Amino acid sequence: MKIYLAPLEGITNHIFRNTYNEIYGNIDKYFAPFISPAENCPITPRERKDITPENNTGINLVPQILVCRSDYFIEAARELQAMGYQEINLNLGCPSGTVCSKSKGAGFLKDPSALQSFLDDIYSFSESENMKISLKTRLGFNDPEEFYDLLEIFNTFPVSELIIHPRIRSDFYKGEPRREYFAYALEHSKNPLVYNGNIYTVKDYENLCDTFGVSLETVMLGRGLISDPCLPQKLKGVATETDFKKLKRLHDTLYHEYQKIMSPDINVLFKMRELWTYWRVLFEDKDRDIKRLLKAKKYAEYEDIVYRVLLTE
Ligand SMILES: Cc1cc2nc3c(=O)[nH]c(=O)nc-3n(C[C@H](O)[C@H](O)[C@H](O)COP(=O)(O)O)c2cc1C
Repeated sequence: MKIYLAPLEGITNHIFRNTYNEIYGNIDKYFAPFISPAENCPITPRERKDITPENNTGINLVPQILVCRSDYFIEAARELQAMGYQEINLNLGCPSGTVCSKSKGAGFLKDPSALQSFLDDIYSFSESENMKISLKTRLGFNDPEEFYDLLEIFNTFPVSELIIHPRIRSDFYKGEPRREYFAYALEHSKNPLVYNGNIYTVKDYENLCDTFGVSLETVMLGRGLISDPCLPQKLKGVATETDFKKLKRLHDTLYHEYQKIMSPDINVLFKMRELWTYWRVLFEDKDRDIKRLLKAKKYAEYEDIVYRVLLTE
């Protein structure tokens, strides 16, 4: 099976990706959090730093673009091509209000005819340049039934992979994914499919396969992988238990790398807190310590809890 890392803005940056890859591996493709091209600025210096190949060595990285103008997409795609990328992903799922109000992300799904002409342009470009474009989409904006028409549109393009997060915009990331629509896609998509959404355990993956009556060949993992970084190894059958030594290495490397580039201390601690909101499921019996850790304002206080209580070897 193939496992892809989902883009998680603020979490799966190049520091996380490199660290993860070195310690855990087993990821077939890493999707970078979106870049958002604007007029005369296809890629900002900050975005460039995150996706430049020098900062992603040994990683199979796919940059992602969030945009609704094909000229902006193509301009950014040319830059990415010059950096050596041969596959680009289009974000059709971001549910944020500011993004959707500009008809980007999930907001683009509201207007299928505009989406179709955008796809006409970008796939003409990709075919002439021999590039691949994959799509990461929700089922629709207001109603999951929008998916039937959207899939028909997607079927008319050479989508290298159609990654489906089977929710609508107003679901955000909550509730159960709407599996029945992914089942529909399995029957009707002409393009290769990737499933994304709420896989936290091997059992979750097995339940999905049972529902669909097929063994899902490719899945994209987001929050489940952050919560249990061993999940890909478990899914691939190379580990059975969560390895806390590896988690400590992951923690320590991220903690030290963020200290090199962020200040003041509290900003590093904010970054670590976000990770601990995912990792806390691994420490269910130590919830009081996690709560203290999430409030720590100084490195000494934070380290005391992390190394005395949580990541002791
Ligand atoms: C904090 C956060 C940031 C995200 N950033 C992105 C992003 O930059 N691009 C994108 O396509 N999806 C983004 N997503 C959506 C995830 O890639 C993924 O589709 C979603 O979390 C569902 O998968 P999961 O249940 O495996 O986490 C983000 C989700 C979260 C929670």
